[in-house]
Amino acid sequence: VVTIRVPIVEHRDASYDILIGRGLLGDLAPLLGRHCAAAAYAVITDSHLAAPYAAPLVARLREAGLAAEVFAFAAGEWNKTRETWAALCDRMLAHHVGRDAAVLALGGGVVGDVAGFVAATYLRGIPYVQLPTSLLAMIDSSIGGKTGVDVPAGKNLLGAFHQPRLVVADLDVLATLPATQLAAGVAEAVKHGVIADARYFEFLESEHSAIRQKDPVAIERLVGRSVELKADVVARDERESGLRAVLNFGHTIGHAVEATSKFEVLHGEAVAIGMAYEARLAERLEIAEPGTATRITRVLDGFGLPQHIPSGTGIDDLLAAMRHDKKARSGAIRFALPRRIGVMYGNAGGWTEPVSEAVVREVLAPGTGSAA
Ligand SMILES: NC(=O)c1ccc[n+]([C@@H]2O[C@H](COP(=O)([O-])OP(=O)(O)OC[C@H]3O[C@@H](n4cnc5c(N)ncnc54)[C@H](O)[C@@H]3O)[C@@H](O)[C@H]2O)c1
Ligand SMILES: [Zn+2]
Repeated sequence: VVTIRVPIVEHRDASYDILIGRGLLGDLAPLLGRHCAAAAYAVITDSHLAAPYAAPLVARLREAGLAAEVFAFAAGEWNKTRETWAALCDRMLAHHVGRDAAVLALGGGVVGDVAGFVAATYLRGIPYVQLPTSLLAMIDSSIGGKTGVDVPAGKNLLGAFHQPRLVVADLDVLATLPATQLAAGVAEAVKHGVIADARYFEFLESEHSAIRQKDPVAIERLVGRSVELKADVVARDERESGLRAVLNFGHTIGHAVEATSKFEVLHGEAVAIGMAYEARLAERLEIAEPGTATRITRVLDGFGLPQHIPSGTGIDDLLAAMRHDKKARSGAIRFALPRRIGVMYGNAGGWTEPVSEAVVREVLAPGTGSAA
């Protein structure tokens, strides 16, 4: 078992461990006792994971003498909503889940975000543990304490910061993760390489077939290094006032693609598309070294990830979605951009660069003539 600590600087009591290993869900009770003791556990999960993972987990917790109950909701990004949050809270209230209980978020990023938001708000906040089951959740969404739901106006617009007490990534569960979901998770790993570690990016370039085959050594290196990189950024900026903005590389355009596709495009796929365009934007602005975008699109290709805006997507709709995104400030759209592989661009003004809509439009639809 590898342990990576997230030292929350602002709030030392909020520091927590991320455990990475195999078979960890089979013996969770002692870990809960040490890191998140509670009178009862509300296991929040989705409909794909309830039977194969949540039911056996609850059975084992009960064998160990712990009270536990499953609260499942229908799988899918389109269910990451206020309605799901409200229904889960109502069901927990009906079950008399008390203030001395804790939430276990067992699932991908959708479960983690919704369950974390339930934990942040239920009876004004109860502790929770992240039990990520998708690659994306293990390396990205379970770390950092951002929780929330999507609303019609955009993604993640309602939420709260609520740090987990513990994150347990049991690599064994990746055996059942579909290939497209694995690739979607790798998109966030590519992002980690671009923002902070050129050697890690090279590993993703050279080991793509081992990773796609879920080779245990390759997967352990991927999860371990991505978790270190994300934990390091988050620990230095708990509430996204500065440095943490680099994690949004690929996400300004990515979130717009995800939302305008009505969630036909997976989050990780949308991030891949977003990174391809934002890297070209960085080159266009002479922020990124020439060739940066080509290396990024090649590595995405190696994982079978998409790099183009889906046909039929309106550029105006994308721009409107970006304007709605909470990262936008009036006037221009702000982007976190690479200088080269492994190094992000920053200046006295921070880690994001305002870009005029005309230039964004030109990069999204080359040749449409609105050069600026
Ligand atoms: N909070 C954050 O900091 C943060 C960071 C990145 C992404 N996110 C959010 O994460 C979400 C995407 O997460 P995701 O890609 O994990 O999506 P997801 O939770 O929808 O999971 C993807 C699919 O895989 C299934 N699945 C998960 N684990 C499985 C397993 N072990 N075996 C079989 N099937 C499995 C799920 O049931 C689901 O159908 C987005 O909503 C995104 O906004 C949040
Ligand atoms: Zn993401």
